[in-house]
Amino acid sequence: MDSLLINGGCRLNGEVSVSGAKNACLPMFAAALLTDQKCVLKNVPDLSDVRFMAEIISALGAEISNTASGVWEIQAKNVSPIAPYDLVRKMRASICLLGPLSARLKKAQVSMPGGCVIGARPVDLHIKGMKALNCNVEIDKGYICVDARRMRGANIYLGGRYGSTVTGTANIIMASVLAVGTTVIENAACEPEITDLCKMLVKMGAIIDGAGSPTITITGVPRLGGVEHSVLPDRIEAGTWLIAALASKGKVLVKGALKRHLGSLLDVLEKANCEIEIRSATSMYVDASKVKIMPIEATTLPYPGLPTDLQAQLCALMTQAKGISIITERIYPERFMHVPELCRMGAEISREGASAIISGGARLSGAPVMASDLRASAALVIAALAAEGQTHISRIYHLDRGYEGIDTKLASLGAKIERVKE
Ligand code: EPU
Repeated sequence: MDSLLINGGCRLNGEVSVSGAKNACLPMFAAALLTDQKCVLKNVPDLSDVRFMAEIISALGAEISNTASGVWEIQAKNVSPIAPYDLVRKMRASICLLGPLSARLKKAQVSMPGGCVIGARPVDLHIKGMKALNCNVEIDKGYICVDARRMRGANIYLGGRYGSTVTGTANIIMASVLAVGTTVIENAACEPEITDLCKMLVKMGAIIDGAGSPTITITGVPRLGGVEHSVLPDRIEAGTWLIAALASKGKVLVKGALKRHLGSLLDVLEKANCEIEIRSATSMYVDASKVKIMPIEATTLPYPGLPTDLQAQLCALMTQAKGISIITERIYPERFMHVPELCRMGAEISREGASAIISGGARLSGAPVMASDLRASAALVIAALAAEGQTHISRIYHLDRGYEGIDTKLASLGAKIERVKE
C-alpha cells in the first residue's frame, strides 16, 4: 500500500485544474447500460473507483475501453442482470446499477453493500423507490433481487431521516426513464451530479423535468440511444483545493471551480474571514498569505447546503483558526474518523454527538497518520501542509479512489510531497 510523505510549512503556489466529478461519472457508467448503443464519456477522472466501475461494467458483459485520456467508450449490447458480491463489495457506488439493470433487463440482482467506515449507509430508500415503481424486491442471500416485469411510473417520496439520497435518486431516475408512464420523485437529491446525470439521460432520449430541484418528473420512453457527454468538474475536489490553499497560506488559482456549485462553501469561508476571488464562472483565486482565519459554526446538509464531503477538510482548516469552531454533521453523524488522526498531529478537537469542537490555534506537528476514508485522507493532507515537520500518511489508496493525481497536483503547486511505493 502506497503512502505519502509531506513536509509541512510550505505555501501552495500556482494553479491547479479540477478533474471530472467522481460522483457524477460512476452513475453515468451505470447509465450506459440503459442502451445497446455506444456511450462516450469525456472528462472522466483517472481514479481507482472509476477503474472498479469499468471492471464491473465489463464483468456484466458490456464492452468498455479507455480510448484516450479521460475518454471512456461503453457499449452494452449484452448485459447480465447479476452484479456479484466480489465486485460490488469493492465500491458502494455500484448500488447505482440497480436502476439501470432493472430498467433494461426487467430484472436485477445486485449484491447488497455492506458496512462503511463513515457510518451506517442503508439502502432502504433505493428499495422503497423500486417497490413504488411496482417492482417486486427481495433480499436473498445478500443480494437485492428485483423483478421489474411490471414496472410502471409512480409518485415517490424519496426522503429519509437524513434528507434526500444521492445515489437513491440516481437509481430511481435511471429505472423510471424506461418505465411505462410518468414518475414524480419528491424530495429528490438536488446535487449537481444528479443534474449532470439527467443531462446525459436527456441526450440519450429520456424525458426528465425538474432535475436540480426537489421534484423531478420523468416520462418513460420505450428505448434510449447512444450519447457523448462530458462529466462536470468535481466540486468537492475544487473545495478541497481552496481549503488546502488556505491552510498552507498559499496563493492558488483553482480552474474548474464553479461558483454556482460552491455557494455553501464560499459562505462558510467568508464567515471564516477567508476571501475567495471569483475570477470567472469556472475559476477561483485564493490569496491566503495574509489571511487570519476566524472560527466558524457550520453544519453539513444535502445540496445546496454544505457538503458532508468537505466536512473533514474544514475541520483540518479550522485547526488554524484562533478560537473555537463547531462543525456539525447532519448527513453521516459518525463521519469523524479524521478527528483522532488530526489530534495525533496536535490538533485540539473533541466530539460531542454529531459535532466536532475544534479549539483552533494549536501548533500542528508532522506525525505518522493513517487514512481511513477518502475525505478523511484529504483532511490529513491539508493538516500535513499546515504542520511543522514531516507527516507520513499511510493507506493512501483511499485518496487514489477520489482525487486524480493528488500528489502530482500538489507537487506542481510546490508542496514537498513524495509518494512512497510499497
Ligand atoms: N440514506 C438512508 N437510506 C438510503 C440511502 C441513504 O437513510 O436508502 C441516508 C444515508 O445514511 C445518509 C443520507 O441518507 O445519511 C444521504 O445518503 P446518500 O444516499 O445521499 O449517499 P450516497 O448516495 O450513498 C453520495 C456520495 C457520497 C456523499 C453522499 C452525500 C456517491 C457515489 N457517493 O453517497 O460521497 O457523501 O452522497 O452527499 O455519489 C465521497 O465522495 O467521499 C462520498 C462518500
